[in-house]
Amino acid sequence: MSRLPLSLLPDSAIVQPDGSLGIGGCDVAALAAEYGTPLFIYDEAQLRARCREAVATFGLGNAVYATKAFLCTAMARLAYDEGMLLDVASGGEMFVALRAGVPANALVMHGNNKSIDELRMAITEGVRHIVVDSFDELDRLDALHAEGLPAPQVMARITPGLLAHTHEFIATGQDDSKFGFNLGNGSAMKAVDRMRRSASVQLRGVHCHIGSNVFEAANFAKAAEVMAGFSIPLDLPELSLGGGLGVAYIEGEEASTITQWGNVLLDACAALGVKSAISVEPGRSIVAAAAITVYTVGTIKDIPGVRTYIGVDGGMSDNPRPVLYGSGYEAFLPRAVAAERPLSARLVGKHCESGDVLVLDATLPADVKVGDLLSTPVTGAYGHSMASNYNKLTRPPVLFVGDGRARVVVRRETYEDLVQCDVE
Ligand code: LLP
Repeated sequence: MSRLPLSLLPDSAIVQPDGSLGIGGCDVAALAAEYGTPLFIYDEAQLRARCREAVATFGLGNAVYATKAFLCTAMARLAYDEGMLLDVASGGEMFVALRAGVPANALVMHGNNKSIDELRMAITEGVRHIVVDSFDELDRLDALHAEGLPAPQVMARITPGLLAHTHEFIATGQDDSKFGFNLGNGSAMKAVDRMRRSASVQLRGVHCHIGSNVFEAANFAKAAEVMAGFSIPLDLPELSLGGGLGVAYIEGEEASTITQWGNVLLDACAALGVKSAISVEPGRSIVAAAAITVYTVGTIKDIPGVRTYIGVDGGMSDNPRPVLYGSGYEAFLPRAVAAERPLSARLVGKHCESGDVLVLDATLPADVKVGDLLSTPVTGAYGHSMASNYNKLTRPPVLFVGDGRARVVVRRETYEDLVQCDVE
């Protein structure tokens, strides 16, 4: 029955005099009319504000935007312009950032299975550092050095043996993990010893990332404690504590701000006597809440005694998070943002499977009808970046809005795009 908590909308969102939604000084219905649906709309000022907050909290050179959360040319430029470094976790992410004009020395290279070509690209381009994840990667770096490439700056990714409170698919700090060098079984120390003695790499520091969408400050404080214990005796210039700050997606959820998160990490490190620079890699907390997705309702199916299905023109191809992690979202009508939502329904997409659910138990205004715009807030992270062409749906465009203007930063895919890679 409850109304949409307006705190889940982007910072610049307003309820206009007729009850409808405006963002960045633009009328959402007008944007949908002009650019079609599904549509991602980002509040540009909010993206900038979150980047600035991260830089102000951790200091220039210590705030690294995890591009996997949302990356396109405009986003790479925006994060860099606001003073962030960029975490790229594949040759493709590195390519997009470089092509956007971000200098290589502002990039940090990640990945649990970097190919030799990706490593060669990172070294040749001159990335700031590479976060090394395995002994096999060290072998590849030896081989590249033997080819005559310079020894890159590296950090060692450590698995601290902590299980963060989040979905198991996105918890990464526990012993049973494909990521990093295990602290408990001695691999981490072995890796650090090898890197210190190696002529192929220059060890700059150690890194950990305990997981994503983590809400509990205690999880981060514990990671800082374990990593401080490991890194202080090493006396290296940098300690990275990764990303992972959770965001509120649904009514009742509450998350720390980047500043609050920073205070937990920085206070813990200071109390433990860490002298290294503390860096972090937030992704979700920079971009998630800045965006909404706008769909059009195409069908409403009421099965008496069973449930009501509301079908929209997108689905698991623009937001696979509900299917992958059981993630919850709110739904609302942009024409009546603050309306009561007494109708229980399942919000589904247009893909050819029953698992194509956007909101399992949505609540919506009772007068929702075919043709209505319907929106889900907090879709700025891991939505567009994990979007697919399943059922050959074309991926939605992305708009940045602000000061009453909208600019297309990613255009809608066309049917022709769908066959670009086909060879007849
Ligand atoms: N650093 C590393 C090494 C990471 O692996 C990640 C995320 C981040 C930073 C950024 O974490 P964030 O601040 O965004 O939590 N697709 C999943 C999330 C996967 C996260 C992968 N790594 C989701 O939609 O929830």
